[in-house]
Amino acid sequence: MIVTIDGPAGAGKSRAARTLAKRLGFHFLDTGAMYRALTLKVARQAISWDDTEAMAQIALKIDLKLADDRVLVDGEDVTEAIRSFEITTHTHHAADNPVVRNRLVELQRQIGSRQDLVTEGRDQATVVFPDAECKIYLTASDEIRAQRRFDDLRSRGEQITFSEVLEKQRERDNRDIEREYGGLRKSEDSIEICTDGLSPEDVVRKLEKLVRSCQSG
Ligand code: DC
Repeated sequence: MIVTIDGPAGAGKSRAARTLAKRLGFHFLDTGAMYRALTLKVARQAISWDDTEAMAQIALKIDLKLADDRVLVDGEDVTEAIRSFEITTHTHHAADNPVVRNRLVELQRQIGSRQDLVTEGRDQATVVFPDAECKIYLTASDEIRAQRRFDDLRSRGEQITFSEVLEKQRERDNRDIEREYGGLRKSEDSIEICTDGLSPEDVVRKLEKLVRSCQSG
């Protein structure tokens, strides 16, 4: 069974999806981490962000593994490094690149063909797994999402203000929505849940109930 969770940055997708997967005994796939990992590799090779061809070549050759909540690029654990503000800011270059998207979509489908999966991203219901048995669209208001991202970055020692986080988030939302291929869009058959005012446990409970009803229906 495939459960897709799409929605904007900071809606609480990762945490909810990870916990939900554990409760269901499913595997968890963080597709944003894949775009981030590729971006980290590009940054380290000091390739220009405008060099779409070089980025595409990296995507075709990258050795990317997501296992046990860790992200490995060419064997190196980059789980923490891909969460920096710098990588977050530049990941849209990878996400906008059609060759990169095709490659990562292919990898995501391979992973989904092998096991029960809770997968989260922007295009999981619309592009990657249109036949998924359970599709969820998770949202929250702008300020609440920015506050979550701000708390997360500060807890990891990043020096950044709330208004910077909010501004960058708005830019990212616009890019995610306007992206030509794989843009953020709620599919008609997704169920929307707004997480404003809900605790992480409330969110997971709602999701679990929904998946159980998909399983029995
Ligand atoms: O969910 P996140 O913040 O880790 O995502 C990082 C970036 O990757 C963000 O700019 C959106 C993009 N992304 C995407 O285009 N498609 C996905 N399936 C997942 C993430």
